[in-house]
Amino acid sequence: MNDVILRTPTVESVIHCGDGAFARYAPALAARRLFVVTDSNVFAYYRYLIWQTFGDETPVHILPAGETSKTMRNLTAILRAMVQAEIKRGDTVIAFGGGVVGDIAGLAASLYMRGVRLVQIPTTLLAQVDSSVGGKTAVDFEGVKNLVGSFYQPEEVICDPVFLKTLPDREVRCGLGEIVKYGALDGEIYSELIANSQNLKTPEFLDKITYMCVRHKAEVVSADEHDLNGRRKTLNLGHTTGHAFELFYRKKSHGEYVLIGTYYELYIAEKLNVCGHDYAESIRKLINAVIGKVPAFADVRSAARLAKFDKKNSGSQISLVVPAERGRCAEISLDEESYPALLEECAARLKSRAK
Ligand SMILES: NC(=O)c1ccc[n+]([C@@H]2O[C@H](COP(=O)([O-])OP(=O)(O)OC[C@H]3O[C@@H](n4cnc5c(N)ncnc54)[C@H](O)[C@@H]3O)[C@@H](O)[C@H]2O)c1
Ligand SMILES: [Zn+2]
Repeated sequence: MNDVILRTPTVESVIHCGDGAFARYAPALAARRLFVVTDSNVFAYYRYLIWQTFGDETPVHILPAGETSKTMRNLTAILRAMVQAEIKRGDTVIAFGGGVVGDIAGLAASLYMRGVRLVQIPTTLLAQVDSSVGGKTAVDFEGVKNLVGSFYQPEEVICDPVFLKTLPDREVRCGLGEIVKYGALDGEIYSELIANSQNLKTPEFLDKITYMCVRHKAEVVSADEHDLNGRRKTLNLGHTTGHAFELFYRKKSHGEYVLIGTYYELYIAEKLNVCGHDYAESIRKLINAVIGKVPAFADVRSAARLAKFDKKNSGSQISLVVPAERGRCAEISLDEESYPALLEECAARLKSRAK
């Protein structure tokens, strides 16, 4: 087990990572008054663990599982249940679940009485390596994802791989998408991924790499908590194109689209001499190891239009954070003509290879 400390000018947050972290750190929380937020799938698997660990009197608010639960209506329902449970200022909200639970419960904790204590217990790989760390909370609003939210650091995060045992393979691939992203940002994570490219899904590997990713994210967030100086923006590597494909095609998981986006953006980075061929090839191999063949999408031009709404962009330029060399990324700005044209070239190349 390893602890990572995330320090910002105002708070300190400790992230306990590793096998056994839940058994070691969760029981002590039962001494406080708690309010647990979870979702229907997680509750079905872990209800006895929740009752055993936190006491069967502890209020548990159960959201319907799934991405569509991050609504204002569910946020209000959580706040109302907190009032009914007579939650007070020194009490603690526990977000027990994936990124959906973490985002909405974190927002509720930040709003209720102007902020109550918050502990994140992430149960998906994506939530462990990414969403539970860094203090971004949100719900979707007026059809826009994550439009209403806050920065609110949890006091404690408990990242225990024990929860990954029940996680469906699609969600493991989703988390691996973000892990490969960290590999493109951090040289040590890259080397670890290359050395283990044949056993990326083994518990031992996931245990080790989760700690390394959390350490990377905590360092970035400590340097740029509110996404103001460019450091935190690097965590969007592969996301401009990945997110556009995700919005347009809506079939695979977020992390898989991040990998597909990274693959297409690598083509652009190589073409513009921002990234060398051998390094690009090594990242492509990692991507293939997680998701197999990358699809040659037929209508990348329509998908590319959705990248225009990405919050990193200024004016009509499309901004991409791409791999450059081991341990270094770069930002590229493209105009509205060349970006879709380059994506089309990449798709055409993928198609000709598939023949
Ligand atoms: N705050 C941030 O910095 C940040 C970063 C990245 C993503 N996010 C947000 O995170 C969300 C996605 O998170 P996610 O991928 O964890 O999705 P999720 O919370 O919907 O979980 C995915 C699925 O796995 C199920 N599940 C969770 N834990 C399980 C377990 N241990 N065993 C079996 N099933 C389990 C859930 O019920 C759900 O069906 C998005 O809303 C995204 O916007 C936030
Ligand atoms: Zn992501």
